[in-house]
Amino acid sequence: MNSNSTNEAMYKLVLVGDGAVGKTSIRRNYLGKGFISSHIATIGVDFAQKYVSVGQQAVRLVIWDLSGQTSFERVRKHYYQGCRALLLVYSVVDRETFDNMTRWLVEVYRYIHEIPPTAILGNKVDLRSSEVHENEVSTDEGLRFRDLFVKKLGVPAVFHETSAKTGENIQEAFSEITKILLTEDSTKQAKAAH
Ligand code: GTP
Repeated sequence: MNSNSTNEAMYKLVLVGDGAVGKTSIRRNYLGKGFISSHIATIGVDFAQKYVSVGQQAVRLVIWDLSGQTSFERVRKHYYQGCRALLLVYSVVDRETFDNMTRWLVEVYRYIHEIPPTAILGNKVDLRSSEVHENEVSTDEGLRFRDLFVKKLGVPAVFHETSAKTGENIQEAFSEITKILLTEDSTKQAKAAH
């Protein structure tokens, strides 16, 4: 945990996932900014901060939003450094973005040699039709991916289906990943004290 003199915890969170899955929109929604229906691709990186309290603990979240366009990999690689958690995003109405999730994990591992705690987010759930179409990803598939992730990597992960348009599950996702980081740090501190 990075902390300053007021004992505030500071965590760097990084949003990753294919272009246009809704990373910028998720960040905007979490920061209380309005939904933009047109797609303006992130150029390289963008970041924002949010202060939250978890119980008595003040937390500063620094949220990095990396462009999902493959051409920006050279820019992205610098910004994974110091990342404490990932928000790994796919679109539930675009199977290819779900199939590409492991590629993102490989990219992160290539640059920081570990996979941090991760929130796996199936975004655009407001667009999913009542019957699951071929190009759509079901809730069960998302859950199975999370289970496999935890089993294979031994890293904590949460799974949510979100909508950056309606705000569904966005607060929950950030709040759960923050609690995982605080728990991780208090466990480390308790071990160090013994
Ligand atoms: P890159 O910067 O290219 O990596 O894209 P991104 O992943 O940041 O996607 P962005 O947030 O720019 O959203 C892409 C498009 O999807 C925009 O037109 C958004 O309005 C739309 N969008 C994002 N999230 C949702 C959602 O939950 N529901 C709906 N209906 N549209 C969404």
